Amino acid sequence: MAESIKKAARIIRQGGLVAFPTETVYGLGANALDPIAVARIFEAKERPTFDPLIVHVASLDGLARLAKRVDASVFRLVETFWPGPLTVVLPKSELVPDIVTAGLATVGIRMPDNEWALRLIRESGCPIAAPSANKFGQLSPVTAYHVKKQLPTIDYILDGGPTTVGIESTIVAINGNTIQLLRPGYVALDDIEKALPGLFHIKHGVPDKLVAPGLMKSHYSPRKPLYMLETGSFFSKEVVALSTVSVSPLFPPATGLILHSQTAIQPSAARVIYTSTNHSLTEVAANLFAALHAMEEDGRIRQIYIEAVPETGLGVAIMDRLKKAAYRYQAKN
Ligand code: TXA
Ligand code: MG
Repeated sequence: MAESIKKAARIIRQGGLVAFPTETVYGLGANALDPIAVARIFEAKERPTFDPLIVHVASLDGLARLAKRVDASVFRLVETFWPGPLTVVLPKSELVPDIVTAGLATVGIRMPDNEWALRLIRESGCPIAAPSANKFGQLSPVTAYHVKKQLPTIDYILDGGPTTVGIESTIVAINGNTIQLLRPGYVALDDIEKALPGLFHIKHGVPDKLVAPGLMKSHYSPRKPLYMLETGSFFSKEVVALSTVSVSPLFPPATGLILHSQTAIQPSAARVIYTSTNHSLTEVAANLFAALHAMEEDGRIRQIYIEAVPETGLGVAIMDRLKKAAYRYQAKN
């Protein structure tokens, strides 16, 4: 670990790009205080420059330096959920270059719950701006190999093994004592309310304008048609449903099927990947992008069908990703 972190930190300090693991997905990192280095992120990802980046810190001091002002309530919030998959969007300090925030007056900040990431930030001596380490709009990477596939020419990939959470952080905008969800993730607003009752006024609904491109309708997409199967087609009545499926021509030839529980009968698809043995949403989240990557690169597979999950708890974040990944194909059906 030590040598690879030193090398990665040296590259960050010199203005290069390093992909590194977090607990959610791999990030494509650069020194957040160096606008030229940050510009390279947009170039490598082919990401539009109107799409702001999240800045990763390894201490609360890092937060205090990047935000214009941090209220006591925000400190309480991050002390409770950091390190972890929660990004807070706050008014930015002078220190943060405009390219990081796409010209917005706010900046997204988080402290990842991953030892490689934290050590990299400390060793680099600067906050690290990092979007997910994929080409814009494509599948998020959860292994070093996924990064290599999409971004083969970046300076360095710090391989810390597969990520654990598997989907991107929850993003919240904080305005005084009001908190609003910009992107669902592992941490739910309910979790915040439960841990810190009454600390924030929760503003429900989505923001008036498109403040986070994670809110775009199409995103996180594999480069093959992806269709969603309704919740319950396998989920609650899987055995009954599957016995129907196995004798019916439901799936066209060359279909890859992604399910979230082990099934008694092998479905009639060219390939089946199970993200979980028993509908565990934590397992589904952790294995979701890897399953989509595997189907994407499997030459036998022409289209992918994936089972929906109930939209409660972590299911909200999972379905957010799935709907966006499937969006362009849903419209035609
Ligand atoms: O888990 C994660 O959040 C991962 C890891 C690498 O930390 N990062 C990630 O970054 O998902 P990215 O760039 O793929 O998605 C970040 C989202 C974007 O949709 C961006 O628009 C939003 O965060 N965002 C960043 N700064 C913002 C701001 N100031 N206001 C509103 N949205 C912001
Ligand atoms: Mg992303």
